[in-house]
Amino acid sequence: MKLKQLTLKNFRNYEELTLDFDSSINVFLGENAQGKTNLLEAILMLSLAKSHRTTNDKDFIGWDKQEAKIEGRIEKHGQELPLELTITQQGKKSKSKSS
Ligand SMILES: Nc1ncnc2c1ncn2[C@@H]1O[C@H](COP(=O)(O)OP(=O)(O)O)[C@@H](O)[C@H]1O
Ligand SMILES: [Mg+2]
Repeated sequence: MKLKQLTLKNFRNYEELTLDFDSSINVFLGENAQGKTNLLEAILMLSLAKSHRTTNDKDFIGWDKQEAKIEGRIEKHGQELPLELTITQQGKKSKSKSS
């Protein structure tokens, strides 16, 4: 299974971000506190709906925002599958739409 694309909305310090991944190696390069670990955390959240850093869902939402969204497109057995995880002040809900 491969993650092809990641989209973040109001997730931690990312207001709006879309990343298209290379099919082999991807490198996140940045200064301290720029959001490299936040990207890995978003991918972990999309995979397992849990974080290595916090058990409080509100920590994921941008400080002045109401809800966060993580969307991904994965490729599995030659098929593309969109995934979506929404985190609100009340909790999180995930969705996997068939394309
Ligand atoms: N809920 C949040 N809303 C907005 N910014 C956040 C939130 N949680 C963390 N941050 C910001 O994310 C940054 C840290 O990102 P991190 O991924 O740990 O950086 P690094 O690139 O060092 O791994 C800090 O600037 C911190 O202020
Ligand atoms: Mg880090």
